[in-house]
Amino acid sequence: MAKERTLSIIKPDAILKNVVGDIQSRIESAGLSIIAVKMTRLSKKQAGLFYEMHKGKDFYEYLIKFMTSGPVIVQVLEGENAIRNYRKVMGATMFGTAEKGTIREKHATSNAHNAVHGSDSPENAIREIGFFFPERQIYPKENYKLSHDPNA
Ligand code: CMP
Repeated sequence: MAKERTLSIIKPDAILKNVVGDIQSRIESAGLSIIAVKMTRLSKKQAGLFYEMHKGKDFYEYLIKFMTSGPVIVQVLEGENAIRNYRKVMGATMFGTAEKGTIREKHATSNAHNAVHGSDSPENAIREIGFFFPERQIYPKENYKLSHDPNA
């Protein structure tokens, strides 16, 4: 299968708990490359747009409040089956159901405070990546190589 991209968000709860490194390490250990990354704080308008498919659901208002309560780290991951692979690394959404060894099993403390987000389909991955990153801010590995080290 060809390489695929997905959008990952490390949420405010995980940043507050100092587990960003642990999350990124799990991502890289699963064979996914981080090819774009930034820390930002979402406005209510941005969070509302990003999660517009959940508008009207009973958890929506709190979801927006939580996602704007502190900074998030947004990143583009690339690899084979990146969408499915990253969802496996994250674990199930609902609190208490995440599989052993997953990010959410380790770091989620409720349905809302679940440490990470990942795109759930190729269409959403394209939409979500475009929401945060113009193509020029994404660095796929095939676009560069290390220079030769003259001292090696
Ligand atoms: P995420 O992958 O970011 O996509 C939507 C988010 O809504 C989800 O992770 C959860 O954080 C949140 N969410 C989904 N279901 C519930 C729920 N029943 N109660 C509270 N938050 C939820």
